[in-house]
Amino acid sequence: MADDVTAEIKSRLLLSTVVGRRTKITRKGRADFMALCPFHGEKTPSFHVMDDKGTYYCFGCGEKGDIFSFVQKTENLGFREALERLAAEAGVALPAPNPEAKQQAEKRQTLQDALEAACTWYEAQLQTGAGGAARDYFARRGLSRETIARFRLGYAPAGHTALMDALVARGFPPALLIEAGLIRKPDDGRSPYDYFRDRVTFPIRDARGRVIAFGARTMGDGEPKYLNSPETPLFHKGDTLFNLNLAREAALKAGRVVVCEGYMDVIALDQAGIAEAVAPLGTALTEGQIEGLWRLAPEPVLCFDGDKAGQRAASRALDRALPLLKPGHSLRFLTLPDNLDPDELIRRDGAPAMRAALDKAIPLVDFLWLRERAAADLATPERRAAFESRIGQVLREIGDTRVQAYYKDELRGRLRSLMDEMRPRRQQQQRERGGFGGGAGFGAGRRPQGRFPQVPLGASPALRASALGQGQDSGADATARLLVLSLVRHPRLLPRVDDELARMEIDSPALDRLRSALLSMSFDMPDLDSDKVKGHLADVGLAETFAHLEDDRFLGLHGIARNEMTIDLVEEGWRHVLAVHRRQTGLRAELSEAQASYEASPTEAGIRRIQAIKEELIRIESQVQAAGVDGGFSA
Ligand code: UTP
Ligand code: MN
Repeated sequence: MADDVTAEIKSRLLLSTVVGRRTKITRKGRADFMALCPFHGEKTPSFHVMDDKGTYYCFGCGEKGDIFSFVQKTENLGFREALERLAAEAGVALPAPNPEAKQQAEKRQTLQDALEAACTWYEAQLQTGAGGAARDYFARRGLSRETIARFRLGYAPAGHTALMDALVARGFPPALLIEAGLIRKPDDGRSPYDYFRDRVTFPIRDARGRVIAFGARTMGDGEPKYLNSPETPLFHKGDTLFNLNLAREAALKAGRVVVCEGYMDVIALDQAGIAEAVAPLGTALTEGQIEGLWRLAPEPVLCFDGDKAGQRAASRALDRALPLLKPGHSLRFLTLPDNLDPDELIRRDGAPAMRAALDKAIPLVDFLWLRERAAADLATPERRAAFESRIGQVLREIGDTRVQAYYKDELRGRLRSLMDEMRPRRQQQQRERGGFGGGAGFGAGRRPQGRFPQVPLGASPALRASALGQGQDSGADATARLLVLSLVRHPRLLPRVDDELARMEIDSPALDRLRSALLSMSFDMPDLDSDKVKGHLADVGLAETFAHLEDDRFLGLHGIARNEMTIDLVEEGWRHVLAVHRRQTGLRAELSEAQASYEASPTEAGIRRIQAIKEELIRIESQVQAAGVDGGFSA
């Protein structure tokens, strides 16, 4: 059923039109467009839209999907809501939902009506005689009338059944109020009573501004300080962020979103002109919340209180985020001075001080390093080794392989300088004698220089003779070059393997540029042939880079780079080489790790481990060469 309707909607609406409403989009081909990605911050477009397929893909952050997922994600809607909106726009009638779904939707609506009625009623109570203390409380906390109205703050009076009586009189049955979390029915059979009593109320609204729950604060020192609605069919704490409805537009405009700990912090920030603020509801950030935040801004700023609890929360958020990190998406961390929370800082030092503090939020990688460094004891070699393996452990938590690779690079560098500071002089001198060969062209990537001393004694003759043994690590670069070259020779393969190509680890900046050019071409220009590709490479200033690649004799000989192969055979061979390349990059990472740990504490076992990894790399390299000379992997 739904399939017919979605297909009909897709045939009537152009994805590019819908995308164009959100972000600047430019036509590149008959049905191809490039746009600034709305899912991550960028200055040059890498968001590709194909109207004929009705799909989009971002080369920057990997977001992909169709018109429905686009509207869901950019508008923060459920599938059904996105469907309804697009159906209306396309003029397509939706079939009636099945009875069960219909009933559920009606149920949600009545719950929502009850919560809306309660919110209005609490707001009204704030203006009554009984609400005097609550008004004073808000005034003491510096909230203006406008702020109180904007956040729909209210007062739940002290009586046992005041809200219940009011809402029942308006026709809401008690059972519904219980389900909405507004009144509580004790287990011991006593009669139900109001959930919130003698507290100021903070409505919690969903992304579209509908009231789904409440938080309520005591005005004195009573416990608990804040009471939140129980979980209900409308309210799931872990999926909800306080103030998302108001913060959304502000965040998209500012390119920033601030996450703080409490209701009052969000409200104080808003009143200080920083409207892009949200808060979880007294719980650690969940995966769903982090993903939701990334839809608002690429690097949400987490502003936790300076106290122990706040720091623990920040640390937990960091651990939760590591497996989720993806290119272009991260978090920033901010700890305010003197154990203040944002509300207190704004009251003490003013809004400009808060803005200045926000600008000083540090990247996730720094926060991570500081945390690990603070927890580490580096007094002995064993403890230094333990620190290093702890860093390795953290790195393995990062889910995205590209992000992980860059983190490895970064943290190894920091580890090395840290260990350098502690190293006795003798070893430093020894280090300076060794090192990988530098070289120009493709080999000259961001490969760390100066690592492990010469080939250890006892290495195999093959190792001693190879480039690797001479301090050059060429294997993975050679396969990467081969993979790219063969795509220039066989551009028809591009659409079949572009995902893999996009995800490949490429160290050399020059080769990386060729890769990007190929990827954008594969979408911009249909019916590519090798000459067109070369022409385009020349157009974008990559002719020389490519010539350098073509000059490589070994590459030219390889089966998949030859011109006369059929496309299926080339694809099969290409995928083989890709597998080899992945194995090589994996081994290379292991090798760096082994080398760093050898540097931290040089042992015989360390040497043997390095040697074993190098031997394996060479074995693979020679296999590639052999396969290349006799015609590729497809034989
Ligand atoms: P804090 O204790 O840091 O309070 O709780 P706060 O936000 O600074 O509140 P004020 O300034 O004293 O009014 C932070 C958040 O943790 C949740 C609430 O969401 C609160 O905003 N919390 C706290 C609870 O759910 N229950 C509590 O008892 C306390
Ligand atoms: Mn506070």
